[in-house]
Amino acid sequence: MAAYQIAPSVLAADFGHMARAAQEAEQAGAGAVHVDVMDGHFVPEISFGRRMVEALRAATTLPLDVHLMVRHPARHVEPFIASGATALTLHAEAAPHDALPGLLRAIRAAGARAGLALKPATDPDLLAGLFPLLDQVLVMTVEPGYSGQPFQPQMLPKLSAIAGQAPATVTLAVDGGIDEHTIKRCADAGATFFVAGSSVYSPRRSVAEGVKALRLALGQRT
Ligand code: DX5
Ligand code: ZN
Repeated sequence: MAAYQIAPSVLAADFGHMARAAQEAEQAGAGAVHVDVMDGHFVPEISFGRRMVEALRAATTLPLDVHLMVRHPARHVEPFIASGATALTLHAEAAPHDALPGLLRAIRAAGARAGLALKPATDPDLLAGLFPLLDQVLVMTVEPGYSGQPFQPQMLPKLSAIAGQAPATVTLAVDGGIDEHTIKRCADAGATFFVAGSSVYSPRRSVAEGVKALRLALGQRT
């Protein structure tokens, strides 16, 4: 069976208890903590910055998967990695295409895994030629900006197309509307890394129960 990882997104957690949210993800057996950084320009909301990454770094030993939804990613690469990001994913739409190779190289040079995220409308063909510089691709299955939006099933063919082109060294991740009804469809399309916000940090159940429900939907027992 493929090695699947679930990355709870603390954007959906209680902002008054972020360290606890990360620790609950770790105790639930998550593979990483997903950290959504929003600047109020690339997306409408402002979420949090590198000081939050530092706080989460101190709270958990899990990898920190930082998703940069910011308009000027270049100036943020080194500070976020110095603050503890294990992986740094920037948006392909946030920089000119010819700037992307340099940005991805800078992420690796600073010691993190390099990722590129694609909004729902973004053509995956832009990834051609970039795969050697990438450790992960994040396919957005909602419009970036908010937790709790419905999954867009029309992203499944895009996921399959990328899975068919990406080398095995590149992790294929999905983000947006991932719950026990959608996660297996994404796995069947080739994703192995699943970001989940509101299905894990929910008033309906504990973080452990949320992660377990996703695992069960993937066909994993533990
Ligand atoms: C949305 C963020 C997501 C968000 C996912 O822009 O990138 O990581 O927290 O939340 P759900 O899983 O609720 O769609
Ligand atoms: Zn995200």
